[in-house]
Amino acid sequence: VSKIILDCDPGHDDAVALLLAWGSPAIDLVAVTTVAGNQTLAKVTRNALAVARVAGIPPNTIPFAAGADRPLVRVQEVAAEIHGASGMDGPALPEPNIELDKRHAIDVIIDTVMSHPPGEITLVPTGTLTNIALAVRKEPRIAERVKEVVLMGGAIVGGNWSPCAEFNIVVDPEAAEIVFSAGWKVVMVGLDVTHKALATAAVRERILSLGTKPAKFADELFEFFKEAYRISQGFDAPPVHDPCAVAYVIDPTVFTLLQAPITVETQGKHTVGMTVVDTRYGKDGGADCKTFAATGINVEKFWDLVVDALQRIGDP
Ligand code: BDR
Ligand code: CA
Repeated sequence: VSKIILDCDPGHDDAVALLLAWGSPAIDLVAVTTVAGNQTLAKVTRNALAVARVAGIPPNTIPFAAGADRPLVRVQEVAAEIHGASGMDGPALPEPNIELDKRHAIDVIIDTVMSHPPGEITLVPTGTLTNIALAVRKEPRIAERVKEVVLMGGAIVGGNWSPCAEFNIVVDPEAAEIVFSAGWKVVMVGLDVTHKALATAAVRERILSLGTKPAKFADELFEFFKEAYRISQGFDAPPVHDPCAVAYVIDPTVFTLLQAPITVETQGKHTVGMTVVDTRYGKDGGADCKTFAATGINVEKFWDLVVDALQRIGDP
């Protein structure tokens, strides 16, 4: 069982990532932290608490903490055309019953990592990397204590917020660069694989047939996401990015990886936010390479994990 901190910006796919993390028997969710991204910090934090209620996470079991309300350097950008004005348009959201932790997200991250034995906590960021960058700057010792950072973001090739940059990276590229170069193991689960994790009609039918409220909630998320992705990016079925990172932690064999140095472009006029994956070094990415990029996904196994988690959550 892997202990994870989910650092997220719900967000339709972040919501599914939270449901997957909570429902999977292979994951021990130890904290949830939020960061401005898909919408403002206030909105994504509220959404996270609402999803927790849908999932049936009881109050006082795990801390939920709000983090950075803007990128390190740049002006905040939100993804309203993908996630709507609320950050999670579509389903009706229940009133949260969990109270936010009083601490800042970066302190929850630091306290959690430092109070567990080395190599025990995995960080799973599914939003911009501002909180993670601030945490490792405030307490550099977390870099050797964290087991690995498994993030949704970036791409080996292409982008979605620009021709060559993915949203989570380009919104705060300076933070992303800090995270990729911190010295810990980083697994980049990027668009190369998440653009294959599509909520097709068949997938949605499978989920809906569970007949539970959380399953219906997920389907309502997919419905909004479908229209948003059809209009903005021409997808027939929406890519459900964020749970891919959680799925990697549950079962790494769902993915194939490439070990290679990865840096983040922070200067380029047309290329800012690009994740630059250096494939010149052969199998192990060269000396001391601790960065990996997902290159392939077993889509069937991925959805099996999501369905299984929703089935276990049942009707809380
Ligand atoms: C990422 O950007 C956000 O809009 C999604 O929640 C996901 O984390 C995909 O590029
Ligand atoms: Ca996200």
